[in-house]
Amino acid sequence: MTQLQNPTSFAAPDQADRSLASCPKGGNSAPGQVKVTAVTHWTDKLFSFQTNRPPSFRFQSGEFAMIGLADNDGKAITRAYSIASPHWDDHLEFYSIIVPDGPLTSRLRHIQIGDDIILRPKTTGTLNLARLRDGKRLYLLATGTGFAPFASLIRDPETYERFDEVILVHGCRTIAELGYSQKIVADSRAHPLIGEMVTAQLHYVPSVTRENFTQTGRITTLLADGKLASSLSLPPLDADFDRIMICGSIGLNQDIAAQLLAKNFQEGNLSSPGDYVIERAFVGDGI
Ligand code: FAD
Ligand code: A2P
Repeated sequence: MTQLQNPTSFAAPDQADRSLASCPKGGNSAPGQVKVTAVTHWTDKLFSFQTNRPPSFRFQSGEFAMIGLADNDGKAITRAYSIASPHWDDHLEFYSIIVPDGPLTSRLRHIQIGDDIILRPKTTGTLNLARLRDGKRLYLLATGTGFAPFASLIRDPETYERFDEVILVHGCRTIAELGYSQKIVADSRAHPLIGEMVTAQLHYVPSVTRENFTQTGRITTLLADGKLASSLSLPPLDADFDRIMICGSIGLNQDIAAQLLAKNFQEGNLSSPGDYVIERAFVGDGI
């Protein structure tokens, strides 16, 4: 595996009082555990954190792993988490919601540098470049923490080798909830090794639904009325040329899939690569 340089110097934005600066990697964790090396709180419901990466831990861009913490009785509480860092990086990164009274995140929200986290070795997922047919453009459509797998994919050189243009749409309720994706995109554009291809090939479209912003509206609406493609001077969605990855709530996933099926897009899998793939960003109705 090619090890590229770490692209994110992950300094906190304006919430310095709620953020912890990154610390040098080091210290040993028990088998099956990794150590937290940085934490950033983006809003009162969203935070990201980094850990060391065990040398044997391998994954493909877009995959998720089970991570967790022990409860008061020492029993593991684990949940699926998309890996937000690129596969070539020497650390791991995750982007998390805080669910009030959530079994895991009500504890995970308090993690600090030096804490241990459970990391199961198996990784899997459907947001996999191998499940897509070749095409010209790749649309990455996410709401909320559904951005996490795309934080990995937009830093994978293979994404830009496979597609001429990559269109990342991140839909959130508020501008503050875009903070993490804005930072990842800005850092990726400035990165010495991947920056040139990201700058040339990635279109980043942040959109909010409950505040005024440069781009407003649900992703489903932006797709359906053709505003997304036209605002980027791209042709309307076409199954011959466009490939799509979707990661959001069940409602978003279903609504976009319905639009794509109506345009003759076919869902892809490993044995039969297709035009689009879907991953749930969480199970349930959302908070
Ligand atoms: P849970 O009991 O697991 O969840 C309680 C309720 O909170 C859920 O029923 C749902 O209504 C809501 N909820 C849970 N997660 C979210 C979310 N992310 N956004 C909005 N509402 C939510 N979560 C992340 O924060 N980051 C990730 O990268 C991530 N990747 C995932 C990948 C997959 C394939 C799946 C299936 C889930 C993923 N999740 C992710 C959700 C995660 O597994 C947990 O559900 C979440 O961390 C909350 O855990 P909990 O134990 O606190 O609450
Ligand atoms: P809205 O504000 O109109 O509900 P959430 O925080 O609830 O996960 O939502 C994240 C973003 O996803 C919000 O902008 C929300 O818009 C949008 N959203 C929620 N459900 C859908 C859906 N079925 N289709 C498209 N966008 C959705």
